[in-house]
Amino acid sequence: MMINKHQNTLSRRSFIKNLSRSGAGLASASALAGSLSGCQDSNNLSFSEIPHSLDQYHHIPDDYQSSILLSWGDALHSSEPFAPEKLTAEHQSQRFGYNNDFIGFMPLSDTHNASATEHYQSGNSQKGLLCINHEYTQPHLMFSGYKDESDGELNTRKEHVAIELQACGHSVVEVELINDNWQTNVESHYNRRITVTTPMEITGPAAGHPRLVTSTDPTGTRVNGTAGNCAGGKTPWGTVLIAEEGIGSLFMGDLNTLSDQERDNYQRLSIGDDENRQWGLYEDRFHIEKEPNEANRFGWMVEYDPYDPESTPRKLTSLGRFEHEGTTIVAKPGKPVVAYTGDDDEFQFFYKFVSDGIYQPEQETNHRNLLEHGTLYAAKLHDDGSGEWLPMRHGEPFLTEEFGFHSQADVLIECRRAAQMIGATPMDRPEDIETNPVNDCTYVMLTKNKKRQQPGTANMRPKNSAGHILELVHPGTDGERDHTSNRFQWNTFLLGGDPNSSDKNTQGFYGKGPKGESVTDAGWFATPDNLTFDKLGNMWVSTDGCEDFGFHDGLWAMATSGPYRAIPKHFFGCPLGAEMCGPEFTPDSTTLFLAVQHPADVDGSTFDHPAHRWPNFDNNLPPRPSVVAIRRKDGGLVGS
Ligand code: FEO
Ligand code: CA
Ligand code: CA
Ligand code: CA
Repeated sequence: MMINKHQNTLSRRSFIKNLSRSGAGLASASALAGSLSGCQDSNNLSFSEIPHSLDQYHHIPDDYQSSILLSWGDALHSSEPFAPEKLTAEHQSQRFGYNNDFIGFMPLSDTHNASATEHYQSGNSQKGLLCINHEYTQPHLMFSGYKDESDGELNTRKEHVAIELQACGHSVVEVELINDNWQTNVESHYNRRITVTTPMEITGPAAGHPRLVTSTDPTGTRVNGTAGNCAGGKTPWGTVLIAEEGIGSLFMGDLNTLSDQERDNYQRLSIGDDENRQWGLYEDRFHIEKEPNEANRFGWMVEYDPYDPESTPRKLTSLGRFEHEGTTIVAKPGKPVVAYTGDDDEFQFFYKFVSDGIYQPEQETNHRNLLEHGTLYAAKLHDDGSGEWLPMRHGEPFLTEEFGFHSQADVLIECRRAAQMIGATPMDRPEDIETNPVNDCTYVMLTKNKKRQQPGTANMRPKNSAGHILELVHPGTDGERDHTSNRFQWNTFLLGGDPNSSDKNTQGFYGKGPKGESVTDAGWFATPDNLTFDKLGNMWVSTDGCEDFGFHDGLWAMATSGPYRAIPKHFFGCPLGAEMCGPEFTPDSTTLFLAVQHPADVDGSTFDHPAHRWPNFDNNLPPRPSVVAIRRKDGGLVGS
């Protein structure tokens, strides 16, 4: 498609039309009105908006309080303080990891011997397990004297790598609200680290396939660890889903030593591209020439039970292998379980999985394997606003022997190639995807894609640096949508960027209120990454890239239905250099947990000379990725 002014105008016009007439929005207004008095007439997000800024502090609205709940290096089983210069791999394996990302709050029931499902469904908002991903390590901000490519030399040491392997992965930490303050319980038997060395099981159609066999695992069903853990999800049966996203940078070695098919498979995931990551110097499994199949054992979703500290995490090959941002679940009694998942890279796709088995809440033991078997679909978005889910089944056109897919395992291992072959729509970096529990519509964060030359209707801007959000509407009515349907409608919910920008490629588009209200100077944002919903159905979006627009990354809240649909308000600002991750509410929406990732990560900032030292501002401590707990001073609903 050629880019021209006329076409651009048309696209935008249809976008605005969608925004004002969306069936989802209109239908939802009436549903919400039943549960919220006055919702039709006033914005229920009444907090005082914070301004755009950029400094070494984090920012919250007036009338709110924040506390730093967990920081990189905090001991999970003792009160021993963090001494970064004395850190060993053994210490790190017992301490909170680096670069916190996804946060799942898993309630703890007060009932003795409660099952995982009973814990989760207790809805306790005073006590729970925080289940937190640690996406990746940044040795130049973790170790004194560390040098990387930008210094013209690398001085990776074996001890660095050993610590990094323990600093990635995931943490489980028991937390409790005591006297209006969240506290960690270092004596809890639930506290746990999952790292790049934790034994895991590989399940589903690709388990045991020869392409997953290594010298240490001839069965192709056991793997040590998870990494690149970006966002994730939770299931109503009380398990947590961890995404493996940036796996390319874990591995080093010459791809020319591989078969043509495997080289193409690895190149599609940028495997071996990062010259700074030198784990393979000391760990053979991260060296492609020494262990050519190990990289096929990463790039999956992982499910585990946080209520059983001894549980073995399971990699779910059924959900495909790519750069998973996260996976979120829609589970309705008597229906298959649906899992939405995005592949965060330019021109990649987004997917949904539909389980073979049925979700039957009363049959608790039935759920543990629901995500292991089912059908994966890739999304195709048509220009007329309709969409279809294309099944990724071996034997269907293009997913055959002739095209190098010898089994369903090949389809799942080479998911990117398979989705491209069947004609899925290449998107502007699909990040988090979640379904609003109130209107049952599904929202896709598309963070940006500066490489896009030819816009399409679902990715309407060339050189899309500000990102956008799509709304998917499956057949049905609010709360009763059929997520298993192969058909849906889609519309552009908003375009990130400054609404007053004269640059058409970054100009934002948002909603308009009943009295002409529009987004404020602080309310616009760019580069949506993660999202969550509060109990009223408001959408909370975190960003990764607003510093390119001159202000901090942070969190914005907005209605998805009713008159104030798609008019964001600014709630939280990160310290310089950080991106915002993990937005997560307690079930009662009176506490919001946020993950501040890579604070002080700007050019030239190092462990020895950091740009700042958030959150401790102590000359003996580096900047530390941290989880922040936020409450209203009067204990009310966050945002209202
Ligand atoms: Fe790790 Fe897609 O952000
Ligand atoms: Ca992310
Ligand atoms: Ca999310
Ligand atoms: Ca990110």
